[in-house]
Amino acid sequence: MAVRKILLMGHPRLLEVARPVDRFDTPELHALVQDLLDTMRAEDGAGLAAPQIGVGLRVVVFGFEANPRYPEEDAVPRTVLVNPVIEALSDEREEGWEGCLSVPGLRGVVSRYAHIRYSGVDPQGTAIQREAHGFHARVVQHECDHLDGILYPQRMTDLRLFGYNEALEASGHLTAMPCDTVAE
Ligand code: NI
Repeated sequence: MAVRKILLMGHPRLLEVARPVDRFDTPELHALVQDLLDTMRAEDGAGLAAPQIGVGLRVVVFGFEANPRYPEEDAVPRTVLVNPVIEALSDEREEGWEGCLSVPGLRGVVSRYAHIRYSGVDPQGTAIQREAHGFHARVVQHECDHLDGILYPQRMTDLRLFGYNEALEASGHLTAMPCDTVAE
């Protein structure tokens, strides 16, 4: 339908808690999902959350087969997830680089749960439940944080591991590739 403008960090709407979707399989919900998918693909993102295009509903999209920004990462199933819930399956955490379409040009190291189960529904209201680990688990945690008004820099504990892509790549710091600009 349309590639939408992505709100940038500093926009107050990115800090709001999004509302659950309560009506499924509606033209409005399908249009929102299509806009999210179109915008994510236009930006080569690994994921996108509705608040990033200014819509305060609990809807995320993520997934890719081969992402030019993340050439070394395994594919993540293309998914539209509404009203998601995440449960950590162990206390194990992993540190990894993330980026975000709302924080362009930058990357930072964030600790995330290594193994999660996530559930929710698709736009028709059909239940989805999966287990994920690694980059897949990271992308889901990153996207779902957007629904609670959390951007990845708010999760960072060492701001020395935060910087511009170009500088990090030149320094050899960016050994593993990141999230929603992936990721974002
Ligand atoms: Ni993001």
